[in-house]
Amino acid sequence: MFNKKTIENINVQGKRVLVRVDFNVPLIDGKVGDDTRIQAALPTITYLLKNGAALILCSHLGRPKGEKNLKYSLRPVAEYLDGLLDAPVSFAEDCIGPKAKEAAASLNPGEIVLLENTRFHAGEKTNDPKMAQQLASLGEIFVNDAFGTAHRAHASNVGIAEHLPTVAGFLMEKEIRYLGKTTTNPKPPHIVILGGAKVSGKIKAIRNLLTKADKILIGGGMANTFLKAKGYAMGDSLVEEDALETAQELLATAGDRLQLPVDMVVANAFNADAELKILPIGDVPNGWQILDIGPATIEAFGKLIITAGTITWNGPMGVFEFPRFAKGTFSLAKIVAESKAISIIGGGDSAAAVKQSGLAEKITHISTGGGASLQMLEGAVLPGLAAIDDLE
Ligand code: 3PG
Repeated sequence: MFNKKTIENINVQGKRVLVRVDFNVPLIDGKVGDDTRIQAALPTITYLLKNGAALILCSHLGRPKGEKNLKYSLRPVAEYLDGLLDAPVSFAEDCIGPKAKEAAASLNPGEIVLLENTRFHAGEKTNDPKMAQQLASLGEIFVNDAFGTAHRAHASNVGIAEHLPTVAGFLMEKEIRYLGKTTTNPKPPHIVILGGAKVSGKIKAIRNLLTKADKILIGGGMANTFLKAKGYAMGDSLVEEDALETAQELLATAGDRLQLPVDMVVANAFNADAELKILPIGDVPNGWQILDIGPATIEAFGKLIITAGTITWNGPMGVFEFPRFAKGTFSLAKIVAESKAISIIGGGDSAAAVKQSGLAEKITHISTGGGASLQMLEGAVLPGLAAIDDLE
């Protein structure tokens, strides 16, 4: 259930509307490298324009450490957005202070200004009340559409909400509806696929999902720590020694609801051209490391996935950046895409893998948030969401 006010619950006609978006996109040679997050914000932007608002957009980009660093400037994003929309998009060289004020004050309905990176000020990450107040003074209504940032309590998404009527945009609403479904009321059977390098970052999610899921299929580097906890030698594979005890405890409490790989693709070096062999799960030979799940695991996981009513996937099954070690991830992506289940994919690497496999269209929902979607899977309250006004 989404119990927050949205842009459809508020009159924006003739108003200056401040919109927090997550335009934290990769820049390659000063140009937008992947526009997924920009595209995802368009429904909110076009709705607000159509309804007569003047739009002041703000976002962070990268981690510039609280000071101006033009490597992280949002100017290329403003230029990109200008190319996407019929409405004129200008750029303000600061998100607070005289430049921002002037840009906001001279804006007419139907026009857009994108403010410079909020993280060029230290007050953003400390949720400084003064910075929040300065940002808020630019608009009359605050729209939070930055789902990707909702797990942060910063001035531009949380502090600002104390000063203005605050509603959610369409992206925020959509993300919460889908990810909330997997954690509260999934259509059974609920099959969760977890991968990625490290188990330590996903322990809370595993604990929470064990109470919601019928099966959790573990692959990727994080499976190594579970396999080591079962007593296998892992050769040169990535293992988190600090997480071994927790892995043992999770295996003991979860029983067969936690499924580990039954075979593995091992390599004699961490590189794309390394020698490889497929082995059943057991001791990894010295000097070798696991870089993907094997064909028997793809088959075993696949058999479970096709029974699902809901599939939640976060993290790749192997080093999919190397084509010869991408089979586990891409094969599961195909099985998930072909299934009739509601399929929800967390942002970050698994989203990138599904897009690379060309199957994104067949997935019910691919999140634009990495950390934020993981925290949803943990069952955490996202501060950015909590700060939005409740529906009366
Ligand atoms: C993300 O990319 O996950 C969000 O934009 C948040 O960025 P951050 O991890 O630098 O806070």
